[in-house]
Amino acid sequence: MPAKIISGKQIAADIRLELKDEVSELRKNDIFPKLVVVLVGNNPASESYVKGKIRAAEEIGMESVLIRYADTISEDELLSKVNDLNKDESVHGILVQLPLPKQISEQRVIEAIAAEKDVDGFHPESVGRMVTGLETFLSCTPAGIMQLLKRSDVSLQGKHAVVVGRSNIVGKPISLLLLQADATVTICHSKTVDLASITKQADVLIAAVGRAEMITKDHVKPGAVVIDVGVNRTDAGLVGDVKFDEVSEIASAITPVPGGVGPMTITMLMANTIESAKRHAG
Ligand code: GUN
Repeated sequence: MPAKIISGKQIAADIRLELKDEVSELRKNDIFPKLVVVLVGNNPASESYVKGKIRAAEEIGMESVLIRYADTISEDELLSKVNDLNKDESVHGILVQLPLPKQISEQRVIEAIAAEKDVDGFHPESVGRMVTGLETFLSCTPAGIMQLLKRSDVSLQGKHAVVVGRSNIVGKPISLLLLQADATVTICHSKTVDLASITKQADVLIAAVGRAEMITKDHVKPGAVVIDVGVNRTDAGLVGDVKFDEVSEIASAITPVPGGVGPMTITMLMANTIESAKRHAG
């Protein structure tokens, strides 16, 4: 039986409706959640992501501002802008779109953002709090995956979750969130020997490697839930890390690309910004 399609597009739309209501309640109390997105240069993928973020903010009635800089901006100039935004009481969320040009240290910029406005969840303080299970801003893609699983009634307790990929943005944090949800977690990566023998044990398989269609039916146990985090631009268009056509024949549930994890990431960014505004007011 072909897999159930976990529609991130639909689940994200449901959550955005909830967030829209929340924003309109906050506005009644003179709280106006505001997100500032900083875009340096004009990398086409970044342009597209940023557009999506601004559009989502508009859709839920939240204020958003896009600040653009040429890719010649110096690190000092960018850090100084971040400092100004940190001090600006009207701003609840600051996101500097990555990647940044090579004259700028991404890590220095991430660490310059005030932790209480770090709606990306990339600041070491946010990461450290997440690791210890404290309240914090969760980075948006892992948070979105957890929502997808929750809202699709995928149980995690005692299940074997296998994560392929160990990036700071997805692989590492999603592994910890799955662990906190009582899954038994294995992390695989480019140096893993006999990848398929491990991924085939997964009840829940998270593919976050960034290699087009590398997870095939030979990597998947029949009945597994498969979450595809990949966004690979190929000549054939946008494809995930999972060979969807064949894996969807054996999985019990699977996310498509596009329309899976992607819309959830942006939605979690909105949720984090609203949460920030509430904390600031409270
Ligand atoms: N570039 C690609 N994804 C992201 C993201 O989630 N946040 C930021 N800041 N940059 C990105």
